[in-house]
Amino acid sequence: MTHELRQRWDARYRNATPQAAAAAEVLRDNLHLLPARGSALDLASGLGGNAQLLARHGLATEAWDLSPVAIDALNAFAGREALSLKGVVRDVVAEPPAAGSFDVIVVSRFLERSLCQHLEQALRPGGLLFYQTFTRLKVQGLGPANPEFLLGQGELLRLFPHLDPVVYREERDLGDHRRGFRDQALLVALRPERANDGAAPGF
Ligand SMILES: C[S@@+](CC[C@H](N)C(=O)[O-])C[C@H]1O[C@@H](n2cnc3c(N)ncnc32)[C@H](O)[C@@H]1O
Repeated sequence: MTHELRQRWDARYRNATPQAAAAAEVLRDNLHLLPARGSALDLASGLGGNAQLLARHGLATEAWDLSPVAIDALNAFAGREALSLKGVVRDVVAEPPAAGSFDVIVVSRFLERSLCQHLEQALRPGGLLFYQTFTRLKVQGLGPANPEFLLGQGELLRLFPHLDPVVYREERDLGDHRRGFRDQALLVALRPERANDGAAPGF
């Protein structure tokens, strides 16, 4: 399965370039929340649009993705641009990030629910999660068709019960459908310095 998935993504990335990869809104629109120093992970990075922005901001950045084609292109680009960015070919479901390993984690357009607890724990206390992905409710037809990879209403808020929400956006089908941030939800959330009441072991 992983092999087929990798081949599919490799084929998608073969004619693409990291230069054209844009960071997701959740990061672009909330850059002012980033710490000035520290380490960051762009998880399921693809060509690393988020990773590039994190590195340019001054964070020691890693980008992890299943696709060697994407990661090789990103590493070559980062070398040319002298970015503090290391791309790693890694199946993030089989090998999630270790506890307490990053100050910032960004995930965009990727949903694997079994990873959420690992992501909470992978943040250092005071660390920030930036997460954005597609919702089941679509008004512009964006995102995959398989409901397994789509968020239910309000689900992104519920997936990280041990983090404190800082920014949340989900516009559903309200108002003028041609405008706004549609078919996706975004969350910026903080791992508290001290565990919240009733927190799970490890918090
Ligand atoms: C829709 S793309 C999103 C890429 C990037 N985050 C963005 O927003 O443009 C989903 C990415 O997830 C990666 N991916 C899927 N399953 C993965 C896994 N188990 N481990 C690591 N990466 C995975 C794919 O290779 C692909 O690059």
